[in-house]
Amino acid sequence: MVLVVESMFGSTLRLAQHVAVGCASMDARCDVIEAGCAVGRVPPDRDLLVLACPTHLRRAPTQRSRAAAATDGPVLSHAGVTDWLATAGLRRGEPVAVFDTRVDARFAGSAAKELARQVRRAGGALVVPPTSFVVVGRHGGPAAGEDDRAYAWGRDLVRTAAAPDPGAEK
Ligand SMILES: Cc1cc2nc3c(=O)[nH]c(=O)nc-3n(C[C@H](O)[C@H](O)[C@H](O)COP(=O)(O)O)c2cc1C
Repeated sequence: MVLVVESMFGSTLRLAQHVAVGCASMDARCDVIEAGCAVGRVPPDRDLLVLACPTHLRRAPTQRSRAAAATDGPVLSHAGVTDWLATAGLRRGEPVAVFDTRVDARFAGSAAKELARQVRRAGGALVVPPTSFVVVGRHGGPAAGEDDRAYAWGRDLVRTAAAPDPGAEK
């Protein structure tokens, strides 16, 4: 499994690491790669791809929103998972899972929903619905319990990936 993650202030990266540890607890390897470093480094024969990013302005980050984030402190990612997806592409029917981070607010939006649309447009197949993990503002880190939820989500992903596909031909 490969998890390509974009993160400005570290929360999405931290949750990605908890997902990876959840996978490891199921004896499944999950390599976490920061989006800006991912070009040319993600093996094309990956079994399951996970994409993760923060929600910015109710959707996936853009160059402009990343620049806005950078006015608020040092940032990790200078390129996005959507940029990586646009250049790398997906195999037809490739299994993919997506998650975002967002604040707990009524009109927070969800980058994962946009990621899901882009994955489908690129020919990928979502193995689980888009998921959101809640963070506390920009710099407060994951909300209480979200690290554990990310760990459990990683374990569930491994179970889902191992389960026989009911739509597959017998
Ligand atoms: C420019 C900018 C716009 C944001 N817009 C939203 C938003 O529309 N909805 C939301 O839930 N969170 C928003 N946030 C908060 C981010 O979701 C939060 O900073 C992020 O999830 C933290 O993850 P990270 O540390 O991996 O970047 C915004 C943050 C920034 C920097």
